[in-house]
Amino acid sequence: MLAAYDALMARLVAASEADAILVGDSVAMVVHGFPSTVHATIEMMRTHVAAVRRGAPEMLVVADMPFISARRGKVAATDAAGALMQAGATAVKIEGVRGHEEVVAHLVESGIPVMGHLGLTPQSVHQLGGYRLQGRGAADAERLREDARRLEELGAFAIVLECVPAELAAGITAERSIPTIGIGAGAGTAGQVLVVSDLLGLDPRFQPRFARRYVEGHELIQDAINRFARDVRAATFPAREEVLA
Ligand code: KIV
Repeated sequence: MLAAYDALMARLVAASEADAILVGDSVAMVVHGFPSTVHATIEMMRTHVAAVRRGAPEMLVVADMPFISARRGKVAATDAAGALMQAGATAVKIEGVRGHEEVVAHLVESGIPVMGHLGLTPQSVHQLGGYRLQGRGAADAERLREDARRLEELGAFAIVLECVPAELAAGITAERSIPTIGIGAGAGTAGQVLVVSDLLGLDPRFQPRFARRYVEGHELIQDAINRFARDVRAATFPAREEVLA
């Protein structure tokens, strides 16, 4: 699964061998330049879900329920999830489970597939004290196992495990009968998710250890832009064949 946010990238992912697109609330940081995902709104998510759906008409598209939208009770959460589904999502992803079990169960009963998200839940970054590995001690690990069990019981169809020890992620994967999708959680999960701009190396300032860069995209792009600027200054662009008759 790749986190992607626009029609152009969605078209490329859809033409690839990947299985699903996540319209993550990381869009608030990656595309909109905010310091955290706390700034994602339902309107922002709807816009990007609709764009991704236009680019990938046939794909499984999971949309993040933005900050606090699962915590305002069943009615508000159903409105938020409904808006994302009507924008083109196939499913929604909700961070955490404690305190909004009822919402997860209600959405599932309403026909909205729900993906869970445990471990490092970035919407709670201010409470977690930063973007850190979660589930390290025995008590924290047990809590995560229990949350995964609850999510499965409530009807979630999959769970993202973010930044948890590889052994714990593998253990949860073995215990549960729904698939886990890891990010910074080792190789023992059923699937993996990366943010497409991390995979493409578009931001040289952001290089987490878990995000393999398959290409140094920022270098390719900056080089291309520089060549364009130089060609314009040298009056070699446009060439005769690039001029419309
Ligand atoms: O918002 C996002 O991109 C995510 C993934 C990192 C799992 O939630």
